[in-house]
Amino acid sequence: MSEPLQPGAAPEGGIAAVVVLAAGQGTRMRSALPKVLHALGGRSMLGHVLAATEPLAARHTLVVVGAGREAVEEHLAQVAPGAQPVLQAEQRGSGHAAAVALAAVPELEGPVLLVNGDAPLLTAGTLAALVEGHRAAGSVFTVLTSEVGDPTGLGRIIRGPGGEVRAIVEERDATDEQRAVREVNAGVYVANAATLRRVLSGLATDNAQGEQYLTDALAPLADGGAPVAAVRAADPDDVLGCNDRRELAARRRTLNDRVLDELMRAGVTVVDPATTWVDVTATVAPDALLEPGVHLRGTTSVATGAVVGPDTTLVDAAVGEGATVLRSHVLGSEVGPHATVGPFSYLRPGTRLAAGAKVGAFVETKNVQVGEDSKVPHLSYVGDATIGRGANIGAATVFVNYDGVAKHHTHVGDHVRIGSDTMLVAPVTVGDGAYTAAGSVITTDVPPGAMGVARARQRNVAGWVRRRRPGTAAARAAEAAGDAGAETAADTHADASE
Ligand code: UD1
Ligand code: CA
Repeated sequence: MSEPLQPGAAPEGGIAAVVVLAAGQGTRMRSALPKVLHALGGRSMLGHVLAATEPLAARHTLVVVGAGREAVEEHLAQVAPGAQPVLQAEQRGSGHAAAVALAAVPELEGPVLLVNGDAPLLTAGTLAALVEGHRAAGSVFTVLTSEVGDPTGLGRIIRGPGGEVRAIVEERDATDEQRAVREVNAGVYVANAATLRRVLSGLATDNAQGEQYLTDALAPLADGGAPVAAVRAADPDDVLGCNDRRELAARRRTLNDRVLDELMRAGVTVVDPATTWVDVTATVAPDALLEPGVHLRGTTSVATGAVVGPDTTLVDAAVGEGATVLRSHVLGSEVGPHATVGPFSYLRPGTRLAAGAKVGAFVETKNVQVGEDSKVPHLSYVGDATIGRGANIGAATVFVNYDGVAKHHTHVGDHVRIGSDTMLVAPVTVGDGAYTAAGSVITTDVPPGAMGVARARQRNVAGWVRRRRPGTAAARAAEAAGDAGAETAADTHADASE
């Protein structure tokens, strides 16, 4: 068995076409969603298979579609616009699916890689090793195999007395002796296009499922003395298929373990691998620290020295060097170097925190730029805004950005102090160095350096409690404090005076 090549190394001679078999119903998933569109680690199963085949740089990538074809075609257009869907109108088996694919490229010659669409753990390295094994053996049909503990449900690899591969027998059609074999068919093959066309055209359906099995292509070739081969996968996990939701969960776990292993080897601290989930598309730099309960999804990146979690989800987010995100949910946002977020905050798309900025507890942000060292420490909603540097947004401030029809922008200048419980009714500008008084509803611009006050003056009605709530604990407390109930109309005003 040949060693896996470096992922990405183009095998000598190259592959003429990749055929992904993805037309099956996936009945065992019990889902309205076609099986190959179920996701794990940030990609669909089909997306993982296509990513593994990409380094082969085949001229054609054909995806056989059938069950749920509209959804599969739509997905393909998004994730692999270069791939060509080929319709298998009736699902008459994997052999029939392969024949339909080859019929779509009648001129095609040379080696073709065929792969089940439900093998999300396949790696480019394993495929490269298969292609290389095929080439080295001068084979016309080569099957990827694996030795597994429990071969239930899988096709068995039948070898002759000299160890040469003779046939693939499906479990339902196998004898007891054949069932005892633990070397199984991974559902990945390399075959010469012309040979495969010929042998597929002669496939029978006299099996337990009444289908044309791609696996039945091997035995007639072997019997006829054609060179056939089997390549064992270096990592048996690579070839595991996914037929139901329990297998999906198991594959997801394996994939995640691989991602975390790679991160830890590269110098990332993962405090609790069991509760940390990182998509294959996310990146984490060495010396970043992932606390328990962290989910990194999509294109998320975490820079060195950053601390994420516990209990934090980042989706398409960029976290800068030395930043902290604690118990928060961050979507499509940038957290600048040494910025801090959380606990319990929700950063929505378009949030950009500059270096050293702070979004504290129970804050929601959306489409906002927060300048260097500015702070939104507590209990605020900040939407559609630009905040300069060194500003402080007082507790419970709301950026009132929506008038019921359109969204409007708020501009807060450098070194501004927004008082607690301020409503900033957009569109509005608070100039550099300006203040707003706590509890203000700011509807017009506050010039630089001014104090914006927009609230009613306070009036104290003396003796009110003694008169209107006699006999209560409050009245007794007031009396004890010396309240004689005098009718003075003392007006106390707490605003900053000019
Ligand atoms: C298949 C193999 C089995 C192997 C296993 C590995 C066959 C007959 N058996 O079994 O030897 O051990 O994979 O996981 O191939 N498909 C179509 N059109 C069809 C039927 C199937 O495109 O008409 C596609 C499916 O979408 C799937 C693939 O072919 O991606 C294999 O079909 P599936 O039903 O999953 O075969 P298994 O029983 O898993
Ligand atoms: Ca399968």
